Amino acid sequence: MKGIILAGGSGTRLFPTTKIISKHLLPVYDKPMIYYPLSILLLGRIKDILIITTPRDLPRFKELLEDGRKWGINIHYAIQNKPNGIAEAFKIAADFIENDFSTLILGDNLFFGHGLTDLINASIKEVQQENKAIIWGYTVKNPEQYGVLELDKKETPLRIVEKPVNPPSKWAVVGIYFYPPDVIDKASKLVPSERGELEITDLNNLYIKENRMIVKLMGRGYAWLDMGTAENLLLASQFVETMEKRTGLKIACLEEIAYRNGFINHQRLLEIAESMRQSAYGEYLLKLSKEF
Ligand code: G1P
Repeated sequence: MKGIILAGGSGTRLFPTTKIISKHLLPVYDKPMIYYPLSILLLGRIKDILIITTPRDLPRFKELLEDGRKWGINIHYAIQNKPNGIAEAFKIAADFIENDFSTLILGDNLFFGHGLTDLINASIKEVQQENKAIIWGYTVKNPEQYGVLELDKKETPLRIVEKPVNPPSKWAVVGIYFYPPDVIDKASKLVPSERGELEITDLNNLYIKENRMIVKLMGRGYAWLDMGTAENLLLASQFVETMEKRTGLKIACLEEIAYRNGFINHQRLLEIAESMRQSAYGEYLLKLSKEF
């Protein structure tokens, strides 16, 4: 299983803040935004990860995440020159995916909730067993701003409509997608939509037409936030702050997940903790390394 994080785009909805920096590197409470999607792939024990970003932002990502060895994973990088759509990720990632299964996550998506790790791992297992694509649906107040599922009475997907004026349901398609190897072939046949993008929705509709799409509807106990506007960015920060302050546990702490997965040893955990002991994040790691 290969993991892909799409962290390109020009971030125009966050101007002027993102005029000089990728939105995915902005802080969401106590860590950069990219940590959140990366933590999801780590929870799924995915070790080979491709980060797709812009030519401008690539050096910054490399400086922050390096080759992933510090978390016991392999991080590769690729460039998306223009925001040509989410599905272009599969053209860019073709050589990286080879003939493998893949999980794509959008760089500005935050997932949280009890049972999330099980949901991720069940999806990873099922996509490989069934050789079908998997998407997740989530109830939102404003479905018209997303790809929206049309389902029959048995909750079988009939189609997905992108940004519908009259949403066929309240179920938005969230920004994590699991695919069989033929995704590359399917993506290569897509044509740009009216907004000039290779749409992930068009790709998903191809799987629905073939009866090869599994939809997992997320219960109301989950949080799914996208962080592409100033308002949503602040809401996400406040959400993380609230949860972390109440529980004393960090969300998307990569070192903690890597250690629990057995990807890094105690010595490495301690070294990383020492290297940032002045921050609350580093302090948390120090505390953890004493507990383990
Ligand atoms: C994209 C997809 C949409 C999906 C959303 C999730 O929207 O096109 O189907 O529901 O991500 O975040 P966009 O970011 O292009 O507005």
